[in-house]
Amino acid sequence: MAADINARRIEDHRLLGESLGLLAPVAHDVVAAFYQQLFLDYPQVRGLFPATMQTQREKLLAAIIALVTHYDRPDRLTPALASLGRKHIRYGTQLSHYAAVGETLLTVLRRFAGTAWNDEYEGAWQRAYTFAAGTMMMAAVEAAEYGTPNRLAA
Ligand code: HEM
Repeated sequence: MAADINARRIEDHRLLGESLGLLAPVAHDVVAAFYQQLFLDYPQVRGLFPATMQTQREKLLAAIIALVTHYDRPDRLTPALASLGRKHIRYGTQLSHYAAVGETLLTVLRRFAGTAWNDEYEGAWQRAYTFAAGTMMMAAVEAAEYGTPNRLAA
């Protein structure tokens, strides 16, 4: 394990694994509910995605599992997330969409976990999403595709 990994991240790695383990039996339902909720609350992003969402659901689930599994090795996650962030420019993703996706993800995780959810899980998922989305957004910004304030606000 790299020396610069702090105690917070090690503990978050454990919390993420534990909470994802709780949801593992219903993981496919969680991802389906995530997109359903996202499109309900933010209909403006529906058009960015393909009509049939099966493949996309599997890709998102794989990405979440990879993030949780390797969360204790951010040095390995960062290049993949940066590349994913640059790809998202081509998908038409705006920076403002990241907050919508994060909020929806947390809402759905909370709902499925029910009484098993707690403040520690909440904090760990918020930090993990902030890390993933932050890395993606930073790479997108550095690719100089989001040049104007108008695009930031769109
Ligand atoms: C941490 C945040 C996110 C993660 C981990 C994530 C993950 C992914 C992954 C793994 C893919 C598949 C890429 C591939 O096929 O190689 C994807 C595609 C896509 N994502 Fe995201 N994403 C995130 C945020 C967002 C946001 C904020 C939006 C905007 C609404 C978005 C919209 C899309 C779209 C439109 C596609 C392409 C769908 C298609 O045409 O097949 N994503 N995402």
